[in-house]
Amino acid sequence: MSFYITTPIYYVNDLPHIGHAYTTIACDIFSRFHKLKGEETFFLTGTDEHGQKVEKASLAQNKDTQIFVDEMSKNFRDLIPYLGCEIDDFIRTTENRHKSAAQDLWNKLKDNNQIYLSNYEGWYSIRDEAFYLESELTKTENGFVAPSGAPTEWVKEESYFFKLSEWEDKLIKFYEINKEAVLPKSRYNEVVSFIKGGLKDLSISRTTFKWGINVPQEDNHVMYVWIDALCNYISALNYPDTKNDSFKKFWPGVHIVGKDILRFHAVYWPAFLMAADIEPPKKIFAHGWWTNEGQKISKSLGNVINPYEIIDQYGLDQIRFFLFREVPFGNDGDFSKDAIAQRVNADLSNNYGNLIQRIASFIIKNANSQVAKPEKLEASDDRLLKSFDETFENYLNHMNNFQIDRALKNIFEYLSEVNAYVDNQAPWSLKKTDIKRMQNVLYVLTLITIKCSILLHPVIPNSINKILNIYNLSLKDLNLKKIKDFNPKIIKLNQPKPIFPRIEL
Ligand code: MSP
Repeated sequence: MSFYITTPIYYVNDLPHIGHAYTTIACDIFSRFHKLKGEETFFLTGTDEHGQKVEKASLAQNKDTQIFVDEMSKNFRDLIPYLGCEIDDFIRTTENRHKSAAQDLWNKLKDNNQIYLSNYEGWYSIRDEAFYLESELTKTENGFVAPSGAPTEWVKEESYFFKLSEWEDKLIKFYEINKEAVLPKSRYNEVVSFIKGGLKDLSISRTTFKWGINVPQEDNHVMYVWIDALCNYISALNYPDTKNDSFKKFWPGVHIVGKDILRFHAVYWPAFLMAADIEPPKKIFAHGWWTNEGQKISKSLGNVINPYEIIDQYGLDQIRFFLFREVPFGNDGDFSKDAIAQRVNADLSNNYGNLIQRIASFIIKNANSQVAKPEKLEASDDRLLKSFDETFENYLNHMNNFQIDRALKNIFEYLSEVNAYVDNQAPWSLKKTDIKRMQNVLYVLTLITIKCSILLHPVIPNSINKILNIYNLSLKDLNLKKIKDFNPKIIKLNQPKPIFPRIEL
């Protein structure tokens, strides 16, 4: 089995913010989860460097555009390890491998009679890099405004068009058969009703500026930035060589995108691909948007969340955990200091961290730093172990369905059960009355803690590596395939250090 996951490639007109960090961490979680299941995974991210928006940003800083995008792209690349993410490739649309792949895709569409030359006249938003129908816009004092709030301008120029209208029926059919190709369900419905509303041919080249990939055999046209950008997902797999190993192994892939760019991914992209005789993506998941303490995040409000700052303030895994436990993946979420403190303190510090700390320290002090597999289990032990098996099954289902919040909720509910077991069994009392039973209880607790930690690894990998260290284990010893049969004779422990300090506001 193989698994290919992508982030959108990020515009380099500005610095990375929490929205970028959110999508990248989501992909990292899924990539790690599938790797932990034993699959071969490929995690791609990168930067979207062409188009008017980026060119304008470089001009505003009086910089050569290539030098500007080189600098800006580096900010996105440098952020990845800071987010605790492990990627397999980073693609830039100004790289030759991408430019030539995009031109090959163009040629293929042309050979397949999918492109024609005409004139575009209509509304365009540079901020969204999108064409709009007048019916989609709101008239304000400052002109026509896009649904995103972005200003638009009237453009009139010669343009190549992609015959999108010819793909209406085929897209509808594709989505009828592949009912989970777009998730969540509400987004799927949105996409299908947009297509059913009728598709117009799409302008795919521009003549009024030069910062883009040249249209093959055309001096005056550069490609529309979205056809250029979407192609990144296959240029990283060495398109047009569709017979090479990575293309064969990894295409079609899973795209994680924000809800604002769903239409490009779920309508234009599959149409381009089918028109070029390539399979459409396996899945497109649209996530929601973050607000800051209840307010829309925007530069003009000065409330943009810098990922470096929040990670330095609260801790990397604390932020990763908060972002994906707090808000159902797919919904909008609100970033608030109180919510982070409450979530981290309740789940990571109290429920999970204290359990590890308490039991491991107790074992070191009272059981010679080790636990041994019991000869016989009691009903309460069996119940707890069986309940883990159910938790594990639910976890797999949720994670396979991109429901990270539910997968996590399910683990923390189970951890509450484990804490209740500790209170009921009271190993500190058993120490005085029944040493053998105390040792058995400690073994069950250690085993369960290790298993839960493996499930949490995709979301909080650095902390889990430290926790596994307490038990002299690493991911080499254990993964999601081995977890059911994990039952070692002896587990030796090292002194634990506090992993999740409480956040005091
Ligand atoms: N370059 C295009 C994508 C091309 S993919 C072939 C683009 N780039 S972007 O940098 O503007 O946005 C990247 C992602 O950040 C989008 O998925 C967008 O939804 C996400 N976010 C931007 N602001 C966000 C929040 N406030 N919250 C969550 N995600 C947000 O679009």
